[in-house]
Amino acid sequence: MTRRERKLEHLKYAAEANLASADFHDVQLVHNCLPETAYTALDLSTTVAGIRLARPFFINAITGGVEAAEDINRSLAEVAKECGFALAVGSQMAALENAEYSRTFSVVREVYPDGVIFANLGAYADADLAAKAVEMVQADALQIHLNVPQELVMPEGDRDFRGYTERIAEIVKALPVPVIVKEVGFGIAKEQAAVIASLGAAAIDVGGKGGTNFIDIESRRARPPQESILKNWGISTPLAILEAKTGAPALDIVASGGINNGLLAAKALALGAKAVGIAGLAAKVLLSEGKEALKRRLQNIVAELKLIMVMTGSPSLVELQKIPVVITGKTGEWMKARELVR
Ligand SMILES: Cc1cc2nc3c(=O)[nH]c(=O)nc-3n(C[C@H](O)[C@H](O)[C@H](O)COP(=O)(O)O)c2cc1C
Repeated sequence: MTRRERKLEHLKYAAEANLASADFHDVQLVHNCLPETAYTALDLSTTVAGIRLARPFFINAITGGVEAAEDINRSLAEVAKECGFALAVGSQMAALENAEYSRTFSVVREVYPDGVIFANLGAYADADLAAKAVEMVQADALQIHLNVPQELVMPEGDRDFRGYTERIAEIVKALPVPVIVKEVGFGIAKEQAAVIASLGAAAIDVGGKGGTNFIDIESRRARPPQESILKNWGISTPLAILEAKTGAPALDIVASGGINNGLLAAKALALGAKAVGIAGLAAKVLLSEGKEALKRRLQNIVAELKLIMVMTGSPSLVELQKIPVVITGKTGEWMKARELVR
């Protein structure tokens, strides 16, 4: 199967799949009956990798490098602009191999000239390719994605994952913009978070388990479709936030992986994330209901977050990180066993 066909199938499966959300049931925010703040006075601004975001949200990497992606990325950029979100493009490798596809990515910068845009490549890329990817969308930062389980379950996927750390360090050194290392739905453990910090990355997007599940998608794409024993592989999004924070306390931690409503976003931010990425929901709503529906859905998530900020007495995201949080059940046990800190 060609990369082009695969990208189209990923979009199709994302549009058709039931939307899965991360499991934050073990994480409870404590109600504050005397919040001393006002809905209209909330400060939603944050910084990630030294970049200021007006709101702690971005549409995460989805697509590019296939004809249909130009319209999709144009729509995503329009929605991101109207919602005040940052935006990551999908992996740009296809356009680095074939310049014809550059437009499917650069369209986002045309539509959203003053937006915060993240470029995206896998850790197989070198510093030269990374610089070209950044240039293509005049990116504010580069996301480097790690997706070992996905590659392993794809018949045509990579099998050799050596050299990633060295290349990430080279990219960090060579690029004029910060690097965000991200997972795609299997999470990042504290040990690897520490390695990522030592390579000079500015931020980690934990890409935890619970939302888009590429092992599941790839097993459904298989001919004939297969049931994978590994469907539950990975570190859940709440635990991945705590793992990454513990392993890389000096880095900005970004949360993604099934964060599909304002309560989940608030919980992720209260656990220490500085922003929240949304991919599967954005792909599904855009492709099945259209641009206006996606805009409404994302605006609703922001409104839900604001309610929770008031109900927890958090006038800003810095304050939200200080509220009391109760972590119980399996999440609490894992936290204890792994000596994680909030
Ligand atoms: C259709 C689709 C395509 C994706 N393509 C990319 C990609 O090219 N590069 C990347 O880093 N992540 C890619 N992702 C992963 C997302 O950026 C995100 O890390 C992951 O889906 C978890 O977030 P979610 O649960 O909100 O979807 C893709 C996700 C979807 C749904």
